[in-house]
Amino acid sequence: MLAIIGGSGMTQLSCLEISRRQVMRTPYGEPSGPLTFGEICGHEIVFLPRHGPGHTIPPHAINYRANLWALHSLKPSLVVAIAAVGGIHAELTPGTIVVPDQIIDYTYDRKFTYFEDNEQPITHIDFTEPYCQMTREKLLTAAKQAEEAVVNGGVYAATQGPRLESAAEVNRLERDGVDMVGMTGMPETALARELGLPYAAIAIVANYAAGRGTNIHAIPLKEIYAVLDQAMIKVRNIITQLVTSNGD
Ligand code: HPA
Repeated sequence: MLAIIGGSGMTQLSCLEISRRQVMRTPYGEPSGPLTFGEICGHEIVFLPRHGPGHTIPPHAINYRANLWALHSLKPSLVVAIAAVGGIHAELTPGTIVVPDQIIDYTYDRKFTYFEDNEQPITHIDFTEPYCQMTREKLLTAAKQAEEAVVNGGVYAATQGPRLESAAEVNRLERDGVDMVGMTGMPETALARELGLPYAAIAIVANYAAGRGTNIHAIPLKEIYAVLDQAMIKVRNIITQLVTSNGD
C-alpha cells in the first residue's frame, strides 16, 4: 500500500475514494490527524495530511515521530511526501515540481530522532542519500508516463519557520548549495530513514524564495495557494500513475 503525506495545499486528496478513517496512537503521541484509507483507481492507499485535516498545525509543532511511526506500522510499499517550497535556483519557478535528492537541516527544537535515550545502543543511520533512490526512480518514471514535467534532483533546505526567510538568509542558503527551501522536510526525512521507510518527496515550488524573482520586497501568500492548487493537478496525475504501475 502506498502512503502519502500531504503538505500545504493538500489537506485532501481529491482523486481518493475514501473507505475509512482511523485515529491512531503511537508511543510518541498522536499523528497530525486520522489516517485516511481509500482507493485511487482501485489501488489502496493511505493518506495523512501533515498539517492536520484543517491545516492548523504549524511546521515546528508537527508530531513527525508519531506521523512516521503510524505509517510505518502499516508497512507501506512506498511513502511519498508532498511539500511546498520556495524556489531559490533560477530554474525553480513557481509551479515547478521537483523530486529532490539532497537535504540540509536548519531546523532546531524539534523531536528529531527515535534513538534519543541512552538505554538503546548508539545508532547512527546512514544519510548519505537522504531519500530512497528506488522511490525517487518510481516517482520519476510515473511522472514521465503521466507526461508531467519534473526536475530530477535538487537540494532541499529545511528551515524552522513558521516565518519565511529574509532575503539575506536566502542568499546564504544559495551559498550553501540549496535549490529550494521548505519547513517540513526535517526531521521527517531522517525519521523515515531511521524506520527504514522507502521515502521520497515531491516538492512543489509555490513561490520565489524571499528576495528572488518577483518577490523582491515580500512573498504574496495568496498567490502561493493559487499556484499550489494548479500544481496539485499535476501531482495527482503523477500519483495516479504511480499507484497504477506500482501494482499495490
Ligand atoms: N520558504 C520556506 N518554506 C516555504 C516557502 C518559502 O519560501 N514556500 C513554501 N514553503
